[in-house]
Amino acid sequence: MSATTSQLQVDGKTVDMAIKTGSIGPSVIDIGKLYAQTGMFTYDPGFTSTASCESQITYIDGDEGVLLYRGYPIEQLAEHGDFLETCFLLLEGELPTAAQKADFDYRVTRHTMVHEQMARFFQGFRRDAHPMAVMVGSIGAMSAFYHDSTDISDPHQRMVASMRMIAKMPTLAAMAYKYTVGQPFVYPLNSLDYSSNFLRMCFAVPAEEYKVNPVLSRALDRIFILHADHEQNASTSTVRLAGSSGANPFACIAAGTACLWGPAHGGANEAALKMLEEIGSVENIPKFIAKAKDKNDPFRLMGFGHRVYKNYDPRAKIMQKTTHEVLNELGIKDDPLLDVAIELERIALSDSYFIEKKLYPNIDFYSGITLKAMGFPTSMFTALFALARTVGWIAQWKEMIEDPSQRIGRPRQLYTGSPPREYAPIGRR
Ligand code: ACO
Repeated sequence: MSATTSQLQVDGKTVDMAIKTGSIGPSVIDIGKLYAQTGMFTYDPGFTSTASCESQITYIDGDEGVLLYRGYPIEQLAEHGDFLETCFLLLEGELPTAAQKADFDYRVTRHTMVHEQMARFFQGFRRDAHPMAVMVGSIGAMSAFYHDSTDISDPHQRMVASMRMIAKMPTLAAMAYKYTVGQPFVYPLNSLDYSSNFLRMCFAVPAEEYKVNPVLSRALDRIFILHADHEQNASTSTVRLAGSSGANPFACIAAGTACLWGPAHGGANEAALKMLEEIGSVENIPKFIAKAKDKNDPFRLMGFGHRVYKNYDPRAKIMQKTTHEVLNELGIKDDPLLDVAIELERIALSDSYFIEKKLYPNIDFYSGITLKAMGFPTSMFTALFALARTVGWIAQWKEMIEDPSQRIGRPRQLYTGSPPREYAPIGRR
């Protein structure tokens, strides 16, 4: 039988700490009373050994390369489901019945338009602004436009805010794109499914008829499913921390979007594609591998490595297949970037440095090539990630708000600054 308590010796004193066991995955040592009993904090920068919450949404086994949404393997959801079904699953905990699915699709679809004044709000941005800068600003502005769904103590308002975020994110992302290329915004078309609608809002122009390519739409839907949630990653933890103070959901998602932007997180798909372009051809790969292994060189192979996956990222495998489907559909036979990617992956996976450090390709390694082939500029990649991750952020935020034991998140620190000292007037410094 597994132990239910653990003991810690501190300054000759024994402190008992409960061990809590989840349904699968590592148990946790409950250190909540440690400070009260010992006057000490725990220290874990980067949170490599810290579970910040209890959650029933997503499970990752990084050693085995397993990802489950509400218990369902990502491979099965990506193969058989669609993105809105995944959204329902993440939010409600169960796969929808046919009637629930139809109702959910209907409700999301009826929220796709954004307040007309948002279009004027967009005019305030520079045309050359990065789409993620526009996304962070416009998502934050949603709380100014949808004030009637910002009371987090009202379950109905929480539900409406969730629907609005999932429905309006593609519209905002498409507007961010259209704005940077100087084309008119395209209104959503409710007869289309979620991903087809997004493709049309991005690539249709009033001067021509636009026909959605079903292969591209299905591929995009799969990309959205793969990115929908990933337990307590940096942006999700940001959303939870922002939400723990009682901030409204639009503000929390804006905070998560800002965190996602960084190149170590969601910005890696953009960085991975830029790196493949910089490598340029297969002959240059050894030079870049050597740079990645050089301790004195800050260069890293973008799209490789993951804090949790110490095995092949299961999403990367599905993504690789999707990449080939899209390139075939578009008749792209000899894409030099794909050649570089395949060879880079082959060399890295057989190199002792990468094997020993368990550095495998992550989802971003292939998603960039696919999105580029579909016609998205690299600057839009992270915005698409934010669009897909919104449901995960919302589901995690909702789970936290509905937890009766929820309180503000407030980490402590190991202070290494100056001890108390006397203020010196400016003339005596
Ligand atoms: N290329 C070369 N070496 C690497 C790489 C890489 N991509 N990633 C990690 N390493 C090395 C580190 O130098 C370190 O070596 P050391 O032990 O000799 O010091 C070791 O592997 C461990 O790396 P850490 O940075 O400690 O691992 P951490 O868990 O903190 O970082 C991260 C994970 C940020 C993803 C890292 O692997 C990385 O920077 N990868 C490239 C960026 C990227 O692809 N990010 C996408 C993440 S997935 C996502 O957000 C969807």
